[in-house]
Amino acid sequence: MDSRKLKIAVLTGAGVSAESGLSTFRGNNGLWGEYDPQEVASIEGWRREPELVLSFYNGLRKQLAKVKPNAAHLAIAEMEKDFSVTVITQNVDNLHERAGSTWVLHLHGEATKVRPENGVYDRNFSEAEVIDIGYEEVNLGDKAPNGSQLRPHIVFFGEAVPKMERAIDIVDEADIMLIVGTSLNVYPAAGLYRYARADAPVYLIDPEEVAVRDPRITHIRALASRGMEIFLERLRRK
Ligand code: APR
Repeated sequence: MDSRKLKIAVLTGAGVSAESGLSTFRGNNGLWGEYDPQEVASIEGWRREPELVLSFYNGLRKQLAKVKPNAAHLAIAEMEKDFSVTVITQNVDNLHERAGSTWVLHLHGEATKVRPENGVYDRNFSEAEVIDIGYEEVNLGDKAPNGSQLRPHIVFFGEAVPKMERAIDIVDEADIMLIVGTSLNVYPAAGLYRYARADAPVYLIDPEEVAVRDPRITHIRALASRGMEIFLERLRRK
């Protein structure tokens, strides 16, 4: 990384992928209107009915194979030419990587990866046990090399967020923080901006009001693709 470049920490949520055709979670037509997150995306749900959880993520993977990065993902990747950019995403899709972003931290896991239900540390895992399955299905009975059932490499509701400390460091080191397309309802991710340095501006691109109101956040009310254009114009003017 070029140390002379300004550091931008980008936190993204489902809204950054909406223009690619992926559903957000809350609001109109949100996934959590159709599915109960306690059933398909919680640790209790996994223990109660793993088949349902596997089928939900199989469906998500199938959808992911059909969509492409949009102008917002591409603009975020393109910023790497002029800035030192780290993306912290709550999304489990791979659209930032496919757009060309080289530094992506997945706070809530990745839909295209699985791991043993019981890893080397009993109910926990080592990164070496994570398997990239691309867009393939995983079903009940599909086992990891250690003989344990494969589960989605997802941070379920009710589980800790192992990459949170790294995310805090990234935000703390940033000169600018940019938040794109998240309702800021889910913690700890929603509180990440508070770790930005007092002199680091914090921008939010989202067409709607979000759950957090803070005078230090400059809200650009636009869809992600248009919002990125506005954000980049502002940066150039500085
Ligand atoms: N461009 C930008 N933002 C958009 C767009 C768009 N085209 N379309 C919708 N949005 C905004 C909505 O206004 C909303 O504020 O995206 C946000 C999506 O919010 P959520 O559906 O709550 O998604 P997110 O904030 O990413 O959810 C956080 O919740 O269930 C969990 O684990 C899941 O990572 C997810 C977490």
